[in-house]
Amino acid sequence: MNVLIIGSGGREHTIAWALAQSPAVTKLFAVPGNGGMAQIATCAPDIKATELEKIRDYALAHNVEFAVPAADDPLCLGAVDVLEAAGIPCFGPNKAAAVIEGSKVFSKNLMQKYHIPTAAYEVFDNAAAALVYLEGYDTYPVVVKADGLALGKGVIIAQTKAEALAAVTEIMENKKFGGSGNQIVVEEFLSGPEVSVLSFADGKTVVPMVSSMDHKRAHDGDKGLNTGGMGTIAPNPYYTPDIAAQCMRTIFRPTIDAMAAEGRPFKGCLYFGLMLTPNGPKVIEYNCRFGDPETQVVLPLLGTDLLEIFWAVREERLAGLEIRWKAAHACCVVLASGGYPEAYGSGYPIAFGADEEALVFHAGTKRLADGTIVTAGGRVLGVTALGDTLQAAVVNAYAAADTIRFRDAFCRRDIGQRALGAGTESFS
Ligand code: AMP
Ligand code: GLY
Repeated sequence: MNVLIIGSGGREHTIAWALAQSPAVTKLFAVPGNGGMAQIATCAPDIKATELEKIRDYALAHNVEFAVPAADDPLCLGAVDVLEAAGIPCFGPNKAAAVIEGSKVFSKNLMQKYHIPTAAYEVFDNAAAALVYLEGYDTYPVVVKADGLALGKGVIIAQTKAEALAAVTEIMENKKFGGSGNQIVVEEFLSGPEVSVLSFADGKTVVPMVSSMDHKRAHDGDKGLNTGGMGTIAPNPYYTPDIAAQCMRTIFRPTIDAMAAEGRPFKGCLYFGLMLTPNGPKVIEYNCRFGDPETQVVLPLLGTDLLEIFWAVREERLAGLEIRWKAAHACCVVLASGGYPEAYGSGYPIAFGADEEALVFHAGTKRLADGTIVTAGGRVLGVTALGDTLQAAVVNAYAAADTIRFRDAFCRRDIGQRALGAGTESFS
């Protein structure tokens, strides 16, 4: 079977890597793909992930029989609707269901209507009303979120009233995130360990994958700016079997049922960003796709053919499928370009090491005509290793990451440290 993956990050490389192991896959294609994906798939680097008609035409021309739009933008624009209408089966939510990520106002209202635990909130569609509300608000920090997609940067944690007022002005009046800021959500600040749970959902059944933990800040000790994610570990030790059962009962099942009741059955990977608060697990955010870099630690632990699962989701047969996981731990360390998440250089050649055990997933790379791989993004590579213990996985991932060189490379040195100390720290 010819399979097309849409996107260009570490997540997409990991999905391509997992699909390449399926005996049913004959040929992989990627639009636009990256330097790593080019080693296992035919890439179309000149087509953007958001050019849906071009992607459809490319898929038809290359006899694509199954497609996986993996990034948020194409999903929210309706990639699944466009491809399915052309007779190409897909793994992923249609546009109506992808709104669970595409609009925070939608997702907050959904949670409120169906009593799914989340932070208390207010929605505003004009800056004046939001400013008046915040003038009278006295519990800080407070969280200000742009309604729409904002490259992961639309969430501002304001420590003071002045910061909150400035955030509203930036988002709603200066349109820092364009139309994504036409509406905002102002919500209560929650604290506790964060857990990412990706799940397979076929509209009726939801099957959580192994849990994981992201490290979002750029520098050690959770310092520096927010990034797309600097590393991950799985499974997440804070996510105990009791908490998993509670999440299934109060969050996962109710969300799938709510989407079905709204006439927007969710099929694909539904990502639950959770905070384990003193008052129980609460939803911080939903994403309508695999997380990045969570995918780089979750899929390497999967013990079942990924294409089989994708087909079962597409055909709504998830309830009858057994999904197995390896009894191991995984750690992914992201190697980034100096300066990221702000300005950084690119086009630097990458010298790969000789560690054969580790998995090196490409995020921001490009393969030149002569085969050289050069840097082409802020997050360049995700280096994943497994281990019998979390400690072993962390050691293995750093050993492999330290054999790779490119100009101005940096990584966090403390990926996994919070998880290794689970249970010994306080969140207040
Ligand atoms: P997001 O861009 O939605 O992934 O949010 C980025 C990060 O902001 C999350 O991973 C949380 O760490 C933090 N965050 C979002 N909402 C809240 C909240 N209500 N309380 C505390 N932290 C939050
Ligand atoms: N790692 C967070 C995300 O994929 O949105």
